[in-house]
Formats: sequence, structure tokens, C-alpha cells
Amino acid sequence: MSLALRHTRITGTGSYLPPNRLSNADIVTLLARRGIETSDQWIFERTGIRARHFAADGVNASDLALPAARHALEAAGRRPEEVDLIIVATSTPDMVFPSTACILQAKLGIAGCPAFDLQAVCSGFVYALTVADAMLRSGSAGCALVIGAEIFSRILDFDDRTTCVLFGDGAGAVVLEPSETPGLLASDLHADGRHVGILCVPGTVAGGQVLGDPLLKMDGQAVFKLAIGVLESAARATLAKAGRTEADIDWLIPHQANIRIMQGTAKKLKLAPEKLIATVAEHGNTSAASVPLALDVAVRDGRVKPGDTVMLEGVGGGFTWGAVLLDF
Ligand code: ACO
Repeated sequence: MSLALRHTRITGTGSYLPPNRLSNADIVTLLARRGIETSDQWIFERTGIRARHFAADGVNASDLALPAARHALEAAGRRPEEVDLIIVATSTPDMVFPSTACILQAKLGIAGCPAFDLQAVCSGFVYALTVADAMLRSGSAGCALVIGAEIFSRILDFDDRTTCVLFGDGAGAVVLEPSETPGLLASDLHADGRHVGILCVPGTVAGGQVLGDPLLKMDGQAVFKLAIGVLESAARATLAKAGRTEADIDWLIPHQANIRIMQGTAKKLKLAPEKLIATVAEHGNTSAASVPLALDVAVRDGRVKPGDTVMLEGVGGGFTWGAVLLDF
């Protein structure tokens, strides 16, 4: 088999949520202490979110990535020593540097393979999967761990009810390996930096100080309008590249930000509502972790089965967006 022509396939999935689950009622209480009003009704009706998980103080993205990676490796029947590429998609890394991927590598008890972080905010996982696929097909790696891991609770402004009720923490992972038969079929990635300001954490670290505001800012309506358009166009472009049609999609797993965006995308693609995999109710928006978390939930509950065709989609800060179509 020619190295340049070989395919890649997901051989295992895993995920992890920190144990501290906050229902909407818990968030109402938390914000009330700051004199800010919100309600379960507002949060659920606008977003579909019922709960989210927050990591404890001192727990970092690599600590969430570790159990997710171990679960994915177990599912793939691989040992950490067999991993020869680690990509962690995250916007909330453990440190400024080195990468969360290097920290995770050490926590897995391995050394030597390339490990790096990929920053594309909520599109991070589909970007990372596309990069890992290209590296595997070029022959530069044999067994890749691709992870989305986030601790968005650290960058939320709990005085801004329009954003702090939306996000949660978690990690999802897949093992990607070379395959004789196609797994990943096509991908379609994009960015438009003209929209940096609608979704960003504008602060930075310089001279030992935090410069600017280190908390998340979002123009929700602007993001909503862009997201609904690009999720449809990326899905259609990916289907066209793969020579497939909407009718071939068994499962749609979009970025889990807002149930209305997800249902709108499924409708535009003429998919039956039950083909949409939605975990936003229990996870909130976990940014780069949301797609692999939802995939792992659907694999473990028996919905996504070997041979099913799955459309993964990301959209978020940057502005970035993209899709990956795969046969599971
Ligand atoms: N509780 C109660 N009321 C609230 C809350 C809250 N938590 N937040 C806002 N409101 C109020 C507002 O103040 C406003 O009141 P007003 O009309 O008196 O001014 C009213 O609710 C409506 O606010 P909108 O912002 O217009 O609400 P909208 O229907 O647009 O929903 C939301 C907001 C849920 C954020 C929506 O715009 C959205 O989902 N946007 C997309 C987010 C997204 O997809 N992000 C993905 C990328 S994330 C990433 O990349 C990190």
C-alpha cells in the first residue's frame, strides 16, 4: 500500500467531565450572589442548556485530557507507548508554554512522539482531526491521539450573564490510525479574521502583567447569524468533496453551543431531527471539547455504530469553522 494513498479511521473514542455539575438553578444562585438575575427558563429556552460541569481549582486542561485519552486508547486497544502523535485542541491551555499536549504526553508516561496544541477555539477539534489525518496519510505518524480539552470556566466573566451561563469544562478524545479502507472521507476548514472582535478573550500577558481583559467577550447575535450560515456551507462543501449527499449522513454532530443553531443546521441539511446528536443540555458549550465529547457519548450509548457516516462540525472564535465527514 502506498503511504501517500492510505486512509485513516477513528479506532477509539473517550471523554471526561469534571465531577462538579452545575444545573441552571445552581448558576441562578451563583449569579444572584453577585446581584445578577437569570433563570433556568431563559437559559434553556434560548440555548437548550440545562447544566454544565466546572473543573475544581488547580485542575488543568491536561488533567481533563488525561482520562479522556486513556478511555479512547482503551477503546482502540492501544497502549500509550503506541501513540506517536498527540494534538490537543484547546484555547485554555495549562500554561502559556509548553503546550498542553507536551504536559499530557508526560502524564501518559510516554516521551519522544511529536506533541503540540492547536488553537482554533470551538473549531479546534475538526481542525486537529484534519491535521492528524494529513500527517497519518503522509506517513509521518502511525497512531494519533486527537483531543479537545477546555476549562472555559476560568475565562468566564461571572458579571456578564449573556456569556457566563453558556460554557462548561470537559475533554473528548479519539485515536486515529491508518486504515486500508476509508474512515475520514473529506474535510473543509475556514477562517475569517475580520470577525476577531465578535468572540474573543482580548487580554494577554506581558512584562509579568495581564494586559487587557482576560475574560470572554461575545456578540451572541453576530455569532449566531454567522454560525448558522457557515455550518450549512461547510457541511455541503465536505459532502461535495467526498462525493456524498445529505441523504448519506447517519449522524450530525455539530459544535454544541446552542440547540437552536444545531436544529437549524439539521433542518437546512434536510436531516430528520433524530439524526442530530446533541449533548449541549448536559455539557453546555465546551468549545474544542464539545464535538469529541458528543461523539463519545453517542458511540458509548450505541447510536454511532461501525460503518455509520458521521458529519462533525465546528464553529467559533477567529472566526473559524469547518467540517469533517467520516465513516465510523
Ligand atoms: N438571563 C436572563 N436574561 C438574559 C441573559 C441571561 N443569562 N442573557 C441575556 N439576557 C437578556 C438580554 O439582556 C436581553 O434583554 P433585553 O431585551 O431586555 O435587552 C435579552 O435577554 C435578549 O438577549 P439576546 O442577546 O438578544 O439573546 P439571544 O436570543 O440572542 O440569545 C445567545 C443569546 C444565547 C448568546 C445567542 O445569541 C447565541 O446562542 N449565540 C451564539 C453563540 C455561539 O454559537 N457560540 C459558538 C461559538 S463559542 C466559541 O467559539 C468560544
